[in-house]
Amino acid sequence: MSQGTQLHWQRAVVKSRRAAADEIAEIVLAGERPLFTEPGAHIDVRIAPDMVRSYSVVEGAVDGSWVKIGVRRSPTSRGGSRFMHALEPGDHLEVTSPLQNFPLRVGAPRYVLLAGGVGITAIHSMARVLKRLGADYQLIFVGRSRPAMAFLDELHREHGPRLRLSVDDEGDVLDVKGLLGQVDHSTEFYMCGPIRLMDAVRRAWIERELPMPNLRYETFGNSGWFDPEEFELRIRGSERHTVVSPDESILEALERVGVEAMYDCRKGECGLCVVKAEQLNGVIDHRDVFFSEAEKSTDTKLCVCVSRVASCANSAGAGAEDSASTRATLTLDFP
Ligand code: FES
Repeated sequence: MSQGTQLHWQRAVVKSRRAAADEIAEIVLAGERPLFTEPGAHIDVRIAPDMVRSYSVVEGAVDGSWVKIGVRRSPTSRGGSRFMHALEPGDHLEVTSPLQNFPLRVGAPRYVLLAGGVGITAIHSMARVLKRLGADYQLIFVGRSRPAMAFLDELHREHGPRLRLSVDDEGDVLDVKGLLGQVDHSTEFYMCGPIRLMDAVRRAWIERELPMPNLRYETFGNSGWFDPEEFELRIRGSERHTVVSPDESILEALERVGVEAMYDCRKGECGLCVVKAEQLNGVIDHRDVFFSEAEKSTDTKLCVCVSRVASCANSAGAGAEDSASTRATLTLDFP
C-alpha cells in the first residue's frame, strides 16, 4: 500500500565538506549524472537502506557538475545528520536528482523571503536568482546567534541592504505583524524555518486577508511545539506496538514494525499519511502544514510523517524525570 514518489537514484561523490555555521555543514556533491537544479529544489540522500533524508540545494553548478547542500546536525540524530556531518571528500553516497516542490515564481512586483535557522538553505538560491533578475525583494534571516547562522558573509556581500537580520541573542526578535504590515496584495512571500515562526506568519497573513496563493513555504517537518520525546505507539486491533524514539518519526516506527502506511512528501505537506488517532494519552504535536488550525485543535487525526505525541508533563513544561514517568501513548486507527 505504501508508495512514495518514484525517484531516480544515482551515486554521488563528496567533493568537500566545511562548517558553514555552528552545527551546520556545507557539503558539495558531484553526481555520476548532471545534477541540474533550480531555486527551492532539494535532493534526497539515502543514509541507510531504510533511511532517506531531504536537504535543500543551496547552490548548483550551471553545468550540473555539483550541488551544494547545508545540513544541520540534530542533537537527537539517530544517523541522518550525524552521518552527513561525518562525510569526507571522496566518500560515496546515493542521491536523487534535485526535486522541486518549492518553486520560485518569477515576475511578481515584489518579494519577501524569510529564512529561520537552517531554513536559509532553501531560501539562499531564491534570493540569488531574484538579485540576478533585478527583482524587488527583501531577505529576512532569523537566527539564535550569528555563529549559528550559515552563509552570513556571502549573504551580506550578495544582498547588502536588502538583507535584514534578526538575531535572538542580540535582543532583536522579529516583529512578524510589523513585517506583514508592509506586505501588499501583490507581494509574494516565501519562507522556510521553524514551525513556530511559519505559524506566526501564517496567522498574521490570514488576519491581514492577504491572498493565500502568495504565501509559499517549505517545511522541514522536524521542528515542533514541544521537545521530541519517546512515546508508545499502538495500532488498534493489532498486537503490534512499539516505542517511538525522539529521533524517529511515527512513519519510520510503523515501517520498522512492518506496518504499511501511505505517504508521499514525508514533510507534512501533502496529507497522504494522515491517520486517525483512536486513543491518546498526551497531546499531539502537530508539525504539519496540511491541517488547518481548527482541524489540529480537535486532535483526532495526524500526519504520521512529521507529527508526534508529547506527554502532558512535557506540554506543561515539566522536567525530564517527570516526563519519563508519564510517557505519552497513541493508538492509531488504520482503515
Ligand atoms: S507524507 Fe505528506 S504529509 Fe505526510
